This record gives sequence, structure tokens and C-alpha cells, in this order.
Amino acid sequence: VERLIGAEAVGAWCANRRAAGRDIGIVPTMGAFHEGHLALMRRARVECDTVVVYLFVNPLQFGPGEDLARYPRNIDRDATLAEGVGVDLLFTPTLTDMYPNGYPPKADRLVRPGPAGERFEGSIRPGHFAGMLTVVDRLFAITAPSRAYFGEKDAQQLFLVRQMTAERYPQTEIVACATVREPDGLSMSSRNVYLDPAARSAAACLSRGLFAVREFYGQGLRDPVALRQLMEARVREEPRAALDYAAVIDDATFEELKKPIADGVNARMLVAARLGSTRLIDNLLLN
Ligand code: PAF
Repeated sequence: VERLIGAEAVGAWCANRRAAGRDIGIVPTMGAFHEGHLALMRRARVECDTVVVYLFVNPLQFGPGEDLARYPRNIDRDATLAEGVGVDLLFTPTLTDMYPNGYPPKADRLVRPGPAGERFEGSIRPGHFAGMLTVVDRLFAITAPSRAYFGEKDAQQLFLVRQMTAERYPQTEIVACATVREPDGLSMSSRNVYLDPAARSAAACLSRGLFAVREFYGQGLRDPVALRQLMEARVREEPRAALDYAAVIDDATFEELKKPIADGVNARMLVAARLGSTRLIDNLLLN
């Protein structure tokens, strides 16, 4: 795997590939690769001529009390893993590459998420989605990918990236990839390394709840309030978990469903909880 740092060098590298008729697939990450990241890279490898992995722990999407300083970083290990799945280029930008007009960017340079970014994660992590969209916008401007691969685990991020991309990069297709889970159901996340053994085993209450709710949905339960309450009860059964929110949303709008779920609506159950000092999110499409 080739490794490049500068935005200009990477932009030129991508432009060369495009000029040679090769399409570009990008996998945006913050590193600390796990099987979820590798699944995105493998899919990109199958679908694209050229696979670029971007790795940058974007400070703008972390809030003041959050885990920016302790976020796991191991670029050499990540480069070896990327190499192993056939990635062509690893782009590890500097702060200046991503924020060429200075950091932090001025308010009028932020890419804002709109109302769908104010709910759920947006209400608990103010500024998070603007920080995330601003850096993804810059990445797409540098690389002009044909496809970009995102995990379904961050469902709200995926929704907002799709929205931003449709508006600003209509030539780029956003490809959503299924969440990869541990054997006990816990969704893979770089933040799972923060969990001590007790919190780690307690963390499975999120996925257990999601799968239980999907089971009820499968049996015909269509009341989103009842489904949400089932999810909440499953998390509350676990004394180590503190629920932030559970909600059933319409996947097409990311709005909370309040009335019985109609046929044809893709309903997604969202959940967020804290286990000690670690915040975890997960979700599952119910149909
Ligand atoms: O999902 C992530 O890892 C980040 O939010 C992303 C998309 C790389 C932007 O920093």
C-alpha cells in the first residue's frame, strides 16, 4: 500500500488514476481498524479499480469532554491491515490538509447537517455532525471518488453523508455496508477497546435488545412506542448500562416514528448507552 500525506499529492494521484480511466473508491476512517473497516475495504476492492483509505482522527467532530486524546491510534498496524486487503493508497492527512483555511474553521465554512442532524446523536453531541460533514466534504473535494463506503453502524452519519453527497457530489455513490458484530452481537467499534471486561460483557445488552425488538416486529408488533419501550427495558435490565436514547425511526427521513409502522416503511431501531465512561451506539433495521 502506498502512503501519502499531502492533499495536493493525493488529489494529483487520484486525478492520474481517473485520467487513466480507473474509478476510485474511498473508505473514510479514523483508524484503529477492526473487521468492520476491513469489510468496507474488501467491498471497495471488489467494486472499484482503485481503493483509497483515508485515515484521520478529525478533531472537529469531537466535543470538549469527549475522547479525542485517548482515541486509539496505531497507523503502522493499520497500514499493515490495509495492505493485507489490497488497498492501493493510504491517505493520512495533516490538520492543514483537511483545514487549509485554518483550524478551527470559521463558522461560515462549516457544512451543517440540517434538522436531521439535530436529533439523537446531534442533540447529545452538539457540533459533532457539522465537524464530521465538514471533513468528509473536504475529503470528497480532494479525491472526487466514484464511490464512498460507510458502515451502517453509524446510521445517522450515513444518512447525513448521503444527504450532503446528493447535494454537493452527485457523481459520488454512497455505499452502505452491514455492521460487523462480535460473536455475542456487540457491533464492532474502535471504542470497544475502552471497555473493561465487565463493561464489555454488559455491552452486549444493546444488540440483544435490538435483536429481541426485531423478533417482536417480525411477529407483527408495529407500535413504535411499544417497540421502543421493549428496547429501553432490555437496556435497563443491565445495571452497568445507562441509556441515552432508544428510538424507532423512518430510515428514509431519520424522523422518529410515532404512529403504527405502515407497510413499505423501513423502520430502524436506534440505541445509545453509556457503559462507564464509554458511549456506544447501535441500530438495526427491523424489516
Ligand atoms: O466514521 C468515521 O470514522 C468518521 O466519522 C469519518 C466518516 C471518517 C469522518 O471523520
